[in-house]
Amino acid sequence: MPVNVAVYGLGPIGSLIAKKVLEKKDLNLVAAFDVAPEKVGKDLGEILQLGNKIGVAVEHDINSETVLKSNNVDIVLHSTSTYLDKIYPQIVRCIKSTADVISTSETLCNPWYRYPELATLIDEMAKKYCVTVLGTGVNPGFIFDTLPATLTSVCTKVEKIHAIRSLDASKRRFSFQKKYGLSLSVDQFNELLNRGQITAHVGYAESIDMLASALGVKLDKIIEGQEPLIASKPLKTDYFNISIGQVSGIHGYGIGYLNGKEFIKVELFAEVGREEYEEIRVEGEPPLTWKSHGTSGDIATAAMVINMIPKVLNAKPGLIRMLDIPLPSAFLKLNIG
Ligand SMILES: NC(=O)c1ccc[n+]([C@@H]2O[C@H](COP(=O)([O-])OP(=O)(O)OC[C@H]3O[C@@H](n4cnc5c(N)ncnc54)[C@H](OP(=O)(O)O)[C@@H]3O)[C@@H](O)[C@H]2O)c1
Repeated sequence: MPVNVAVYGLGPIGSLIAKKVLEKKDLNLVAAFDVAPEKVGKDLGEILQLGNKIGVAVEHDINSETVLKSNNVDIVLHSTSTYLDKIYPQIVRCIKSTADVISTSETLCNPWYRYPELATLIDEMAKKYCVTVLGTGVNPGFIFDTLPATLTSVCTKVEKIHAIRSLDASKRRFSFQKKYGLSLSVDQFNELLNRGQITAHVGYAESIDMLASALGVKLDKIIEGQEPLIASKPLKTDYFNISIGQVSGIHGYGIGYLNGKEFIKVELFAEVGREEYEEIRVEGEPPLTWKSHGTSGDIATAAMVINMIPKVLNAKPGLIRMLDIPLPSAFLKLNIG
């Protein structure tokens, strides 16, 4: 039986998820939600610029519970925003419709870290309605948490983990470049970041806390921070012209301390023109270095969300994290137990 899927939020990530769902024959895309007046009421095929209608009208967020129920939606793929307090009512509507949820919300990846009370409420409600809720994505969800946790499987001792992600911000979507403050002055960047009007990356601490939890250790403390990187020559992306002295990207970090020493360090360099790679170094027995040539963030996020569908459909009810599911992997054919 194909699984009935809804897509909640039709920005660049939600739209990409929807397109990839349409390519999977085991998945039946039956509903879609957004709030933007230019999207609500239109056929999803039109919003995704497929060149044909697909018979799914985009519904407004406020109607989601009813629409999810009437379409017998099994699982909602949710990608509207980052902070759990903002998306909480959306998640509640999905749960009450009795659909499972996979969300790209960075803070829902490990919600007990920043929103313990909301996490408990969601967990209790998910159990009551017998559904599973998971937050995931490329990062948080994989590069700074699930991947290093998996790599340590071959170590008998782990003394320190250092994960670095370096990416070319010019290759990313408009909403990414905007939230990383490209072309702002340093003062504007700091002011907007402090006011929460831009966020750059969210989730350093969520990833570190989740990784520590996978290793079974309780950290003394976690610190995190982000600073702008400054253009030393004029730069151009599809969306921004950056002059010398303006923001060309960010360096962000999180550090988890164990027994007073750095135990987990994650670092992000996201800048226009930057070399793309991820590197994970584990100091321990045996020491280990893993390096990639970069992971394309948007498609990887869509992949993580879609690939977790069978894992979530097979999972126990409640609010879960990546470390609560069996080995993450792609799925080529749905196998629901
Ligand atoms: N974990 C990860 O690795 C990862 C990776 C990529 C992205 N993300 C996160 O995933 C989210 C989506 O990314 P994006 O770039 O597509 O963001 P975006 O450009 O902000 O798009 C979000 C879409 O959701 C719509 N929306 C807002 N509130 C809604 C609501 N209450 N109900 C239904 N739709 C609503 C927005 O409409 P309006 O435009 O009208 O507001 C917009 O169309 C972001 O929070 C992003 O940070 C996480």
